[in-house]
Amino acid sequence: MKIISVANQKGGVGKTTTVINLATALAAIEQKILVIDLDPQGNSTTGFGLQKISGKTIYEVLCGKYSLEELTTKTSIGNLSIVAATNDLAAAEVELINEINPQHILNNIIQKIGVEYNFIIIDCPPSLGMLTINALSASNSVIIPVQCEFFALEGLTQFMKTFKLIKANFNNKLEIEGILMTMHDKRHNLSLDVVKKLRDHFGEKVYQTIVPRNVRIAEAPSYGKPALIYDLNCSGSLAYINLAKEVIEKNKITIQ
Ligand SMILES: Nc1ncnc2c1ncn2[C@@H]1O[C@H](COP(=O)(O)OP(=O)(O)OP(=O)(O)O)[C@@H](O)[C@H]1O
Ligand SMILES: [Mg+2]
Repeated sequence: MKIISVANQKGGVGKTTTVINLATALAAIEQKILVIDLDPQGNSTTGFGLQKISGKTIYEVLCGKYSLEELTTKTSIGNLSIVAATNDLAAAEVELINEINPQHILNNIIQKIGVEYNFIIIDCPPSLGMLTINALSASNSVIIPVQCEFFALEGLTQFMKTFKLIKANFNNKLEIEGILMTMHDKRHNLSLDVVKKLRDHFGEKVYQTIVPRNVRIAEAPSYGKPALIYDLNCSGSLAYINLAKEVIEKNKITIQ
């Protein structure tokens, strides 16, 4: 079982879109997937067409009221389940601090689950608070979506500092799974410039796959569907299928 966080403290860079579509692409090739929505915005929850219902979310799991299994819901996609989030989760940022070893709460919960998944994919909020720290402390690796824009490198440098701190203090097994360039517009020189800078700086940590800016990707959540289900052949869906291939190859998983 591999646990991957999708994180970046910057908002709106494509974290949730990556979680939803990577999870869907992996589920399509018979990988058993659990998505944990760890963002109070609950965008992964609605992105899979689920209602946000208070009282039965990851917040209650973190509070110890339910086990992870009790609140795991099947999505409409085979092999793909989710633990939902609502706005209630915002309280966890402050409440967790009063617990013993607050940064390890999610890790302890995940370690106890009996069901085997091939991948657990965690959608993080756009901050480096206690929720993201919990996600990274519980993960084997992190995918960092980076929007192809001027401030991308700056934000990434800041994220890398947090990554190193968490690795040094809470989770020495944490690795960079990959840096994913998102919302790329090949008509803009700036996008091309960001791609070059990221590849020069981070080398093979940067995925070959570049997710293009694609209106079908932006439309899909309003139908409660992953882009791969909404329009399998759009350029965005094809990019996420390629990303899934890279993840599978990198992790040396054999598909029957
Ligand atoms: N490749 C893309 N092409 C076009 N629109 C996209 C693309 N990727 C994401 N979007 C849109 O950009 C917005 C932000 O994406 P998303 O919600 O995935 O980012 P996020 O990093 O999870 O945001 P937050 O930090 O608020 O959680 C959404 O409206 C989404 O539909
Ligand atoms: Mg999000």
